[in-house]
Amino acid sequence: MRAMRVFQAGQRVHLVDKKGRHYAFTLKAGDRFQHSGETILHDDLIGQPDGSLARFSETKTMVALMPTLAEYTLKMPRGAQVLYPKDIAIILMWADVYPGARVFEAGVGSAALTLGLLRAVGDRGTVVGYEQRADFASIAMKNIEKFHGPATNLRVRQRDAYDGIGGEPEEAPLAFDRVILDLPEPWRVVPHVPDVLRLGGIYLSFVPTVPQVMQTMDALRQTNAFGMLQTFETFMRPWNIEGRSVRPDLRMIAHSGFITVARRMETGMVSARGQGSVSHVSLSGDACEREEPVQDGG
Ligand SMILES: C[S@@+](CC[C@H](N)C(=O)[O-])C[C@H]1O[C@@H](n2cnc3c(N)ncnc32)[C@H](O)[C@@H]1O
Repeated sequence: MRAMRVFQAGQRVHLVDKKGRHYAFTLKAGDRFQHSGETILHDDLIGQPDGSLARFSETKTMVALMPTLAEYTLKMPRGAQVLYPKDIAIILMWADVYPGARVFEAGVGSAALTLGLLRAVGDRGTVVGYEQRADFASIAMKNIEKFHGPATNLRVRQRDAYDGIGGEPEEAPLAFDRVILDLPEPWRVVPHVPDVLRLGGIYLSFVPTVPQVMQTMDALRQTNAFGMLQTFETFMRPWNIEGRSVRPDLRMIAHSGFITVARRMETGMVSARGQGSVSHVSLSGDACEREEPVQDGG
């Protein structure tokens, strides 16, 4: 039998029109959704399968979809600015967040990244998140509950990550496999990280500007506890493919931020610059670069 997912009251739905615009709301028995003077009853959607048509009238229809995580994060209520799905996707891979991993995150913000982390660590993993603003933490918890349901493996604490990490049983020394930061001054958290990140663990931070990257790199090097430092940014350029109009879209997100990754390792392996005497392995594909031809007979 084919698996079919059916809309239920309390669930998030995205109605998508012919132009691809999303209208997001939570289904509630007895409620109605209005758009450009036309109405659809929530009761008409509840019980329908994901991907079915929402008929406002004879002429107006939209498709009713259960949002993907990426779609959900772009439409959910926000306190702080969320990370874009293109960055979250890369972060999960470059920080190598695996099922069962114990992850420290700060700041939680609106919880777009937290949702990605929870999905990646699964039920066996744990996420501990610091968020200094109570109002943001509250929005984050609601966003998580609505998409993920109750997350018993998540602890969100209203704390200032610059003051340090620890003090709770889950934050014991070397308790974490991964430390992921999306806050303005990660270099103020970096000195605390070696105490809680196990050897071989991965540090990753996201910042929008070059001076922030520079300060973060300096701080990582000063700890003498990290190697394989790497900073990069990502671009996603959508294309228009319609008939003979096959070309990049006219608009794209030209800048979001820089991702810095470092590997926690024993001090003896880290050079004075903190670059790591372990050879730097880039995962961006330069392993495919061809060797320079050797000139002979020179
Ligand atoms: C850009 S937002 C994070 C967005 C989040 N990654 C998401 O995808 O929804 C940065 C967050 O860091 C929080 N923050 C700033 N400084 C902090 C600190 N010292 N400790 C904990 N949280 C902090 C801010 O309140 C804000 O919510």
